[in-house]
Amino acid sequence: MKLLAIETSCDETAIAILECTGDDTAAQFTILGNTLLSQIEIHRPYGGVFPALAKREHAKNLVPILEATLSEAEMLREDTQAIPADVRERILKILEREPDLGEAFMTSLSEMETPDIDAIAVTAGPGLEPALWVGVNFARALAVLWDKPLISTNHMEGHTLSALVTEVPDSNARVFDLKDVQLPLLALLISGGHTEIVGANTWREYRLVGQTRDDAVGEAFDKVARMMHLPYPGGPEISKLAERNREDGGSNPYTLPRPMIDTKDCDFSFSGLKTSVLYLVKDKELSELDKQQLAHAFEDAVSDVLYTKTSKALIETGAKSLAIGGGVSASTHIRRYFQEHLPEDHPEVKLFVPPKFLTGDNAVMIGIAAYYSYLHKEFIEVDALTANGNRSLSKKS
Ligand code: KG4
Ligand code: ZN
Repeated sequence: MKLLAIETSCDETAIAILECTGDDTAAQFTILGNTLLSQIEIHRPYGGVFPALAKREHAKNLVPILEATLSEAEMLREDTQAIPADVRERILKILEREPDLGEAFMTSLSEMETPDIDAIAVTAGPGLEPALWVGVNFARALAVLWDKPLISTNHMEGHTLSALVTEVPDSNARVFDLKDVQLPLLALLISGGHTEIVGANTWREYRLVGQTRDDAVGEAFDKVARMMHLPYPGGPEISKLAERNREDGGSNPYTLPRPMIDTKDCDFSFSGLKTSVLYLVKDKELSELDKQQLAHAFEDAVSDVLYTKTSKALIETGAKSLAIGGGVSASTHIRRYFQEHLPEDHPEVKLFVPPKFLTGDNAVMIGIAAYYSYLHKEFIEVDALTANGNRSLSKKS
């Protein structure tokens, strides 16, 4: 089957078309089209994501991105059939909050043949609600126009399941298998908005094992980067600086605390760590070496805490598979840390990390998660689909 997936939960506008085969135990995903437009440059002057701007940019970019994705998938064909008046009216009503999008939609889609897809999936949460709504309404409008089933996808399930795929050799990052995942599964989800450990004894039935009590780990990376006057988003910048210091021998006068590392639960706290960095950088002119050493100390502290708590959760849950997902899973050091320590401490656990291009927000991961909904006929009516900024993975919503 073929699936069109849409992601607009934060500052990336993304659409992918996947061909999906197989079942819960062994599935294969072929990327037929994948377009992603990052708004990083637009939000950079604000040092973070500005929701009203994110919403505006999604509305502006969805139609061109849809065209680009369909074109890449060789599904963009001209058609001259007029849209019936009642369908047109219903679509304009769905898109009434984004009038420019409504207009662009009508202009472009009225000249387009219905593509050969079987369902439309969209991120319905968690994320920035105004941003989510644009994608949700766009997906609803497409479902009405093309008369296709609609799937409401959880962003965090996208991060979880996309971590479990492996590239089929020589497929040029186009074909991915998702198979041989032994249960129980544990997922460490580390992104800009979330830091949580989620367990699943049964495939796709998630329960919360631990979570941050304050900042998400990506948020801490970004805030520490801002203290060092590094550009947004700071995560990759911190990671790069830290890696440079390690390559140069790793000497480091700085040590930072490991908050909550010894507590019995599997929860995290990163705001104290951030404050410790603030004391070190306050009123100080930082040299390039200072920045590298601080970044190194910070990333080491984060890695120790993430690993220790995940290790505890692995023992508690008896998990056989560990997936690490979300934007921060792009960190070379965090990956290496788990790859080095896990075989020794938990030889029975298989580690899954996503291909780098699937670590940050993207629509491929939404398509991957949505396929399992499709297999189980978890569709939603056009008028029932809403965005939910706080949607949780462990509660059905
Ligand atoms: O999953 P994601 O793209 O968006 C959310 O759902 O939040 O995660 C974005 C976060 C940002 O905080 C960014 O700084 C961080 O992931 N990030 C990194 C790296 N690449 C992105 N953090 C550490 N090292 C990286 N290489
Ligand atoms: Zn994300």
